[in-house]
Amino acid sequence: MNSPHLSEQRILITGAAARVGKTVAHYLADCGCTLAIHYHTNDQSARSMRDEFRDRNIRCEIFQADLSRFDTLHNLVDRAEDAVGPLTGLINNAAIWHPTPFKDVTHRDWNRFFNINLRAPFFLAQRFAQIADGRPGAQIINMVDIFARRPLSEYSPYGMTKAALHYMTEVLATELAPGIRVNGIAPGVVLLGEDEDPDTDEELQKLQRQIPLGFHGSPDDVAQTIAFLLSGPSYITGEVIAIDGARRHITV
Ligand SMILES: NC(=O)c1ccc[n+]([C@@H]2O[C@H](COP(=O)([O-])OP(=O)(O)OC[C@H]3O[C@@H](n4cnc5c(N)ncnc54)[C@H](OP(=O)(O)O)[C@@H]3O)[C@@H](O)[C@H]2O)c1
Repeated sequence: MNSPHLSEQRILITGAAARVGKTVAHYLADCGCTLAIHYHTNDQSARSMRDEFRDRNIRCEIFQADLSRFDTLHNLVDRAEDAVGPLTGLINNAAIWHPTPFKDVTHRDWNRFFNINLRAPFFLAQRFAQIADGRPGAQIINMVDIFARRPLSEYSPYGMTKAALHYMTEVLATELAPGIRVNGIAPGVVLLGEDEDPDTDEELQKLQRQIPLGFHGSPDDVAQTIAFLLSGPSYITGEVIAIDGARRHITV
C-alpha cells in the first residue's frame, strides 16, 4: 500500500527557513505539499518562501517559535493545524550544532542542546500523535545524524541528543503503530557550516577523501529521501536512513 500523494499531505517542518530545512520545504512544495513552515530567527526568509509558494498556488503558512521554550511546543502543532488543516506529517528538523569540549560544557549548554534537539522533537511528536493518529499517511520524520551511533569527539551534548532522537524514532515507531509511522534521516555532511570552506580547509579535504563515495552529500539528498518516506511504501517505520556516502562504516 502506498502513502497518499504528496499533494494531499499537510506537513509541519521545523527550522525550515534556512539551510537543509529550506531545501526540504522547497522540494515538498514542488511536489504540491501544503506546508506549515516553522522558523526561529529567519523571519525574512520564511516570509519570502511563503509569498513565493502562494504565488505558485501552494498552500503555506509560517510560524515563529523558540523551541528552547517548553510552552511553545504543543502550541506550535495546534497553530499549524488550525492554519493549514489536519496535519499528516511532522518533520523535526530544527537543531543546534557546535563544538563543546567536555571539560568546558556548561549547564546552559546542556539545557540548550537537550531542550532544542531533543525535548522539542519529543513534545512536538507527542502533540502530533494526539491529533493525527490514524490519518492516512500520518508520519513523523526526525533529523538524526550518523554520529548518533558513533562518538564525535568534542560534540558530546550534541551527539547525546541525536543518540536519544535515534532511540526515540525506534521506540515511537512501536508505540504509535499502526496509526503513525516514525522514521529518521541520519546525514553525514550534507551542508557545511557557513565558515567552512572545502577549497581551503585541509581537514575537510582529508575527510572528503576518506568518505567511500568521495564527496559530501547535499540537502537535495535529504529532501529526496524525505519525499520518498512521505510518499513511498507505507510499510517502512522505525527506520533511520543514513545519507553519508558510507562514512559511518569507515574506522577513522
Ligand atoms: N548540515 C549537515 O550536514 C547535517 C549533518 C548531520 C545532521 N544534520 C541535522 O539535519 C538538520 C538540519 O541541518 P542544518 O545544518 O540545516 O541545521 P542548522 O542550520 O544548524 O539549524 C536548522 C534550523 O534550526 C533552527 N533553530 C535553531 N535554534 C532554534 C531554536 N531555539 N528554536 C527554534 N528553531 C531553532 C534555526 O532556525 P532559524 O534559522 O529560523 O533561526 C535553523 O535554521 C539538523 O537537525 C541537523 O542536526 C545536518
